[in-house]
Amino acid sequence: MKIKRLTISFITFAVVSMFLASCYYDSEEALYPSLTTECDTTNITYSATISSIMKNSCTSCHSGSVPSGGITLTSYAGVQQVASNGMLLKAINGTGVPKMPPSGSLTSCSLSQIGIWLKDGIPNN
Ligand code: HEC
Repeated sequence: MKIKRLTISFITFAVVSMFLASCYYDSEEALYPSLTTECDTTNITYSATISSIMKNSCTSCHSGSVPSGGITLTSYAGVQQVASNGMLLKAINGTGVPKMPPSGSLTSCSLSQIGIWLKDGIPNN
């Protein structure tokens, strides 16, 4: 019977597709993004690297007319100030001052990128 065979192959196709789809979603990359997402520690710049860390984790509080702690982190000048007086490093590590961001911690990648930028001499690049 042709119809029956067709139905069986359709079901087989559907089941195999479902397996392939589930294999995709269970991929190591999807489960453990940190395994494949490289931390770029070369070419650290204020404009690309540091300002986007600030934008993602800090400027929600440290911006506007009444910034938290009186600290504005939306511009190089503002970040440079806390970077050169040591407050930036203290805040992101929570050493002696409340840890920033208050909701948790920066990723280890962001922490090393900021560390490199500080060692580079806080360039406005
Ligand atoms: C949810 C709001 C919020 C976020 C997000 C946030 N801060 Fe703060 N920050 C504060 C507040 C409020 C203070 C004032 C000190 C306090 O009482 O915690 C502060 C203080 C600071 C200080 C001064 C520390 C001191 O004690 O003098 C620095 C530096 C700082 N933040 C840096 C950062 C950086 C860098 C980020 C992002 C990684 C960040 N903050 C994210 C709310 C925030």
